Amino acid sequence: MSAAHSDAMKPRRFLPGGPLRGRIRVPGDKSISHRAIMFASLAIGESRISGLLEGEDVMATAAALRAMGANIERTGANESGGEWCVHGVGVGGLLQPRQALDMGNSGTSTRLLMGLVASHAITASFIGDASLSKRPMGRVIDPLAQMGADITASPGGTLPLMIRGISPAVPIEYRLPVASAQVKSAVLLAGLNTPGITTVIEPIPTRDHSERMLKGFGADLTVEVEADGTRIIRLRGEAELTPQVIEVPGDPSSAAFFVVAALLVPGSDLVIRNVGLNPTRAALFEVLRAMGGHIEEVDRREVGGEPVADLHVRHSPLSGVEVDPALSPSMIDEFPVLFVAAALASGRTVTSGLEELRVKESDRLAVMAAALTAAGARVEEREDGLVIDGTGGEPLPGTHGAPIATHLDHRIAMSMAVAGLASRNGVEVDDTRPIATSFPVFEELLDGLTK
Ligand code: S3P
Repeated sequence: MSAAHSDAMKPRRFLPGGPLRGRIRVPGDKSISHRAIMFASLAIGESRISGLLEGEDVMATAAALRAMGANIERTGANESGGEWCVHGVGVGGLLQPRQALDMGNSGTSTRLLMGLVASHAITASFIGDASLSKRPMGRVIDPLAQMGADITASPGGTLPLMIRGISPAVPIEYRLPVASAQVKSAVLLAGLNTPGITTVIEPIPTRDHSERMLKGFGADLTVEVEADGTRIIRLRGEAELTPQVIEVPGDPSSAAFFVVAALLVPGSDLVIRNVGLNPTRAALFEVLRAMGGHIEEVDRREVGGEPVADLHVRHSPLSGVEVDPALSPSMIDEFPVLFVAAALASGRTVTSGLEELRVKESDRLAVMAAALTAAGARVEEREDGLVIDGTGGEPLPGTHGAPIATHLDHRIAMSMAVAGLASRNGVEVDDTRPIATSFPVFEELLDGLTK
């Protein structure tokens, strides 16, 4: 359990409610917020970040970088989130942390910062909560060890672990064995302080925020796309990063809960402003449209080098679909809430190719199958996906008896909150505290819309 959490679990019954009407904003993108703090910490001089997500995961990244010498301060806030000022140490300038780095619940902080430490002559221990301590780190240990870092992990390649970095590290050409933006980014971050060219070959494209932002900070990075879609990313090391002014767009993964809630609850008509629509992130909205969802993009524009729009969502009857597994990396965090939409659609929704969901903050296939079944949905769990027969728009019965076990997984808690809204008797979850890792104002926003 992260130090930021209080000791007692916080159960809550999410009652039926709505319609959801009006205009809201969701907080800054989590992936982009982590990267903004990290890259700014490696630039010499002052970067300014607005719209930063002030969730526990991003704060874990900020605390770790402070412990390694960066100066990171909150200077204020505007309607889209925190305004922060970062004075970086320069590529190669990270200092030896004096204590173990506490990553809380955050896989992104852990894997990306391991990459950073790997090519510095410092030693760092990484610790985390019970959920993070079960997650596989072998996928970053392998390439970072090839670059010369010495890593001692707990059995099964998990946290706690200790990493002894090396400078100069050895540049590698690494073909990703799993479609993972975290592994890609860990290798690129290690490559920043490594002489020569570090290459990552990505057969299946994953979120490309690191590539976009590294270029924005002035790194020499190229992306070549082959005929079959394979991406070859090359980064010249010993880079000099120039401080930037960054505006973080709203997080599509957070918007997803309100998009699905508005689609499901009759009478809803909601605008979610400033939602990031990077194509490597936005496939959920395509799938929901294919199911019959009315989701309109208004005022498409660019914010912080990323495409954004306001999303206008209206209640829509949904039909089940077969989700193309090729879309999975571009909606990997949105499956829990898609399963909720499927549980209220008419007909069958089939998902496959989702083995990665078993190693997220929880085993999201097993946990969502159990949670939706407890709420009265018809769900079959397969090795690599769920098959869901929807109610055809009828509310789910809701939970009786034991609350839904969320297993320290924010997205399970928020997905089942949405299921509660679209239920007859409400859905009780065992613990809402993990929501603060990615979306601290979720309940406030939800309550404001549904009261
Ligand atoms: C993330 C990448 C994804 C995603 C996670 C954030 C990132 O993980 O699930 O929430 O910021 O790079 P994987 O790289 O494990 O797919």
